[in-house]
Amino acid sequence: MQTNLYTKITDALVDDGYIIIQNALQPSLASSLKSYAKNETNFKPAGISGKSDLHLDATRRRDKIQWLEHDAKTQSEFLDFADGLREHLNRELYLGLSYYESHFAIYDEGNFYEKHLDSFKNFKNRVVTTVYFLNEEWTDEDGGALVVYDAKDNLLAKVEPQANTLVVFMSENFPHEVLPTKKKRYSIAGWFRIDKHD
Ligand code: OGA
Ligand code: MN
Repeated sequence: MQTNLYTKITDALVDDGYIIIQNALQPSLASSLKSYAKNETNFKPAGISGKSDLHLDATRRRDKIQWLEHDAKTQSEFLDFADGLREHLNRELYLGLSYYESHFAIYDEGNFYEKHLDSFKNFKNRVVTTVYFLNEEWTDEDGGALVVYDAKDNLLAKVEPQANTLVVFMSENFPHEVLPTKKKRYSIAGWFRIDKHD
């Protein structure tokens, strides 16, 4: 089943550059990841760029994050899924992805993330983006949609951050934003990279 999912994602990246998958993983995984994030221990205000960049800009982005680590079982399960996908993408598309990094993000009521790209052309670090949602019972009125655009800024999709929905796209080609949320919103954003892990 996992292999089917990997194939589906790979084919979509080739054909369209992005994919939105509902009920992507085990629903129980989404709920245990959510339970973990709900504790909110060790979450820090997010910076705009890389992991070590401490530059904060609350006008563009207002969420708090915590990086996933392999030491907790639930996080490991998610990271193992991502690593399997990394191997599949490398085998099928020769992307040469060297590692995957991901963080939980919590958007409190009123929080948002302005339209941005996760990677800039020729910068060559983040190649494929994943966004995985953890919110049960989300409705349209709750706001907080992930809006995905194409390279010409045409709207492609408005994704409700419903638990167990997975979005995957090529990092350089798809500007996206998180609309202001009216309810506390939980997600995991991740990136397959091609630089050396430090
Ligand atoms: C990001 C991002 C979207 C989300 O962190 O770069 O676009 O829904 N996150 O958390
Ligand atoms: Mn992003």
